[in-house]
Amino acid sequence: MSKAEATSARPDHIPVLLNEVVKALGPKEGGNYVDGTFGAGGYTTALLKTAECVVWAIDRDPETLARGEVLAKLFPGRLHLVQGRFGDMAELLSDQDVKAVDGIALDLGVSSMQIEDRSRGFSFLRDGPLDMRMERSGRSAADIVNTMSEKELADIILTYGEERHARRVARAIVEARQDRPFSRTLRLADVIRAEVRRSHDGIDPATRTFQALRILVNDELGELERGLQSAERLLRPGGILAVVSFHSLEDRIVKTFLKARSGMASRPSRHAPASLSPAQNVATFTALSRRPITPRDAETTKNPRARSARLRIAERTSAPCLTAVTGGLA
Ligand SMILES: C[S@@+](CC[C@H](N)C(=O)[O-])C[C@H]1O[C@@H](n2cnc3c(N)ncnc32)[C@H](O)[C@@H]1O
Repeated sequence: MSKAEATSARPDHIPVLLNEVVKALGPKEGGNYVDGTFGAGGYTTALLKTAECVVWAIDRDPETLARGEVLAKLFPGRLHLVQGRFGDMAELLSDQDVKAVDGIALDLGVSSMQIEDRSRGFSFLRDGPLDMRMERSGRSAADIVNTMSEKELADIILTYGEERHARRVARAIVEARQDRPFSRTLRLADVIRAEVRRSHDGIDPATRTFQALRILVNDELGELERGLQSAERLLRPGGILAVVSFHSLEDRIVKTFLKARSGMASRPSRHAPASLSPAQNVATFTALSRRPITPRDAETTKNPRARSARLRIAERTSAPCLTAVTGGLA
């Protein structure tokens, strides 16, 4: 593969909202950019090809990042592969003596390669170990379904999966594990399918419960909150943050954060003094799109995974970082 031919570390992977993300970041010569979710390197490759810039590519999955070595050779000195979580990006880059960057892209969730690799246990269509750990360490999905109480399971399936039949699914899981513990993805999918009927839109009944387990196993929402705060610390004034999310739980966190940080959050009470929340007075971001950007029909036809994608873009102001002031999402 030559530099001109390169589109990613995996030519079969189609990056979502690629043109929109690259246009938003507007890479320029000598600039430093963070691709916080390297995946197949689609965004990274496009940034490197658009301008003589430097990309710090982060992925928490060591196997995924290893595939980036091919790209790193094509762009010597310009692509730095960093294993870790984007929630820690300010620290990860500080370790490399990078204190501020010009743009950050986050393309949330798992990649098609991770889903298609049955040994990772993300898919309810392919049999594999019930794992779902992006980093291959910590608590697996099997540990969760085999040990959590019925109530806890129901709560996470409802909250993270937005599954209306969460109680019924949790009860069925607890009954089935009394027979023998869960270890494979297809057995869990079959237990769920026996409880929940396929909806009119044809979505597999296992989709929502698998989503809930994946979010919990990888603490994806906590990571997103930390990632946004880390981006606030790392972006230089004028730097751009672009986040692509795939479900309402993620998009809500991004939207709430940007609203609070751009001074648009509503006051807790109309009687409360305007100075109550620092986020309302010292905007650290300017939202560049009021509504999220969604893919065009041509993209969703080519890549159905893009259907639920939403891109939010914001520009860092020169106001000091708020995280230390509010200690979290305001
Ligand atoms: C949807 S894919 C990204 C695809 C990429 N934009 C491309 O064009 O090839 C998401 C990637 O982010 C990684 N990931 C998810 N959460 C992460 C986190 N908190 N920190 C670092 N990497 C993460 C996953 O391992 C996966 O490889």
